[in-house]
Amino acid sequence: VTPLEKHLKRRIALEGPMTVAGFMAEALTHPQHGYYVTRDPLGAAGDFITAPEISQVFGELVGLWLAEAWRQSGSPTTANLVELGPGRGTLMADILRVAKMMPGFEQAVSVHLVEASPPLRGKQREALGDRAVTWHDSLETVPDGPTFLIANEFFDALPIHQLMRTEEGWRERVVAVQDDDTLIFGLSPGASPLVSLVPPDVRDSAKPGEIFELSPVSIAIMRQICSRISTGGAALIIDYGHPESATGDTLQAVSNHEFADILAAPGSADITAHVDFEMLARAAREEAAVAFGPVAQGSLLTRLGIDVRRQQLSKRVAPAQAKAINSAIGRLIGPKEMGTLFKALAVLPAGAQTPPGFEEPA
Ligand SMILES: C[S@@+](CC[C@H](N)C(=O)[O-])C[C@H]1O[C@@H](n2cnc3c(N)ncnc32)[C@H](O)[C@@H]1O
Repeated sequence: VTPLEKHLKRRIALEGPMTVAGFMAEALTHPQHGYYVTRDPLGAAGDFITAPEISQVFGELVGLWLAEAWRQSGSPTTANLVELGPGRGTLMADILRVAKMMPGFEQAVSVHLVEASPPLRGKQREALGDRAVTWHDSLETVPDGPTFLIANEFFDALPIHQLMRTEEGWRERVVAVQDDDTLIFGLSPGASPLVSLVPPDVRDSAKPGEIFELSPVSIAIMRQICSRISTGGAALIIDYGHPESATGDTLQAVSNHEFADILAAPGSADITAHVDFEMLARAAREEAAVAFGPVAQGSLLTRLGIDVRRQQLSKRVAPAQAKAINSAIGRLIGPKEMGTLFKALAVLPAGAQTPPGFEEPA
């Protein structure tokens, strides 16, 4: 029994079954026993690997995108460069390296990292050397001003509620303790008030047994991002997820690069859910920002010139290394790997021009 499981059982004994969102928040970011708070989960020896850890080309192209967005917004002389959930700091290090290619950009930006994990803050410090950086628990404390923001595999870690359509109406999925003292999924006895947030077409068409996932925290953070960039800036959100709001149970646990039981050892496995990009784009529009995409990660990186970069890098190295570069890039853009499941959404102030790699909004 993990220390977090003990804590969750105590909480459930006192307060009753908890929502999936409550469970996810505790499992990932409980201040002593949360998964992210107690470890660096990335890399071959960890639990999972992310795009910036697969190839430097990912961060380089994201960096050029952000620098170009800065130029397109009039090259403000002071601006925030913000990353949500920066992992090991690899992506930000790659961004800052290519940022030097855009005259004035690197000097204009101050770097702000929103990170819940103390061990990962330590890794970020190492990755960024002596570059001045400010850490934040949330976006709220980042100073005002034009903001250029990247979030890669951040939204998938934010808590979701799971609402289930039953013959009796919509119920909320909860985590309870069963007789043998293990955790188990159950359903709330009454209707869930969150149903009013389910898009009407989904609410009307869902069949008994189907689940709709809803992340009010994601919507709130998206709104914060948009209200920030309404005075200048741009945000690029990359994650796995679906382009349109739909039913489906996407909650998953991953440990040691394999799927794991979600409830078996809370605090010791990563727990994520697919991002609902339609919901994020709608939140952006409600804040009077303009959302572009989502486009598939493979298409975005291809349009941003990943093939040219592949050729440049491959020219200077031995054949075995060129093969490794090729295979890493294949993982990022291959339709059966990360190229299609992962998607990118760009958010800009209303009236801004279309950012590189995206098309006019419909
Ligand atoms: C899946 S990792 C992605 C890391 C990095 N972006 C990358 O691509 O390698 C998720 C990151 O978000 C952070 N994180 C998760 N939940 C968070 C929260 N509620 N607030 C701040 N950071 C959070 C984690 O500590 C970690 O740095």
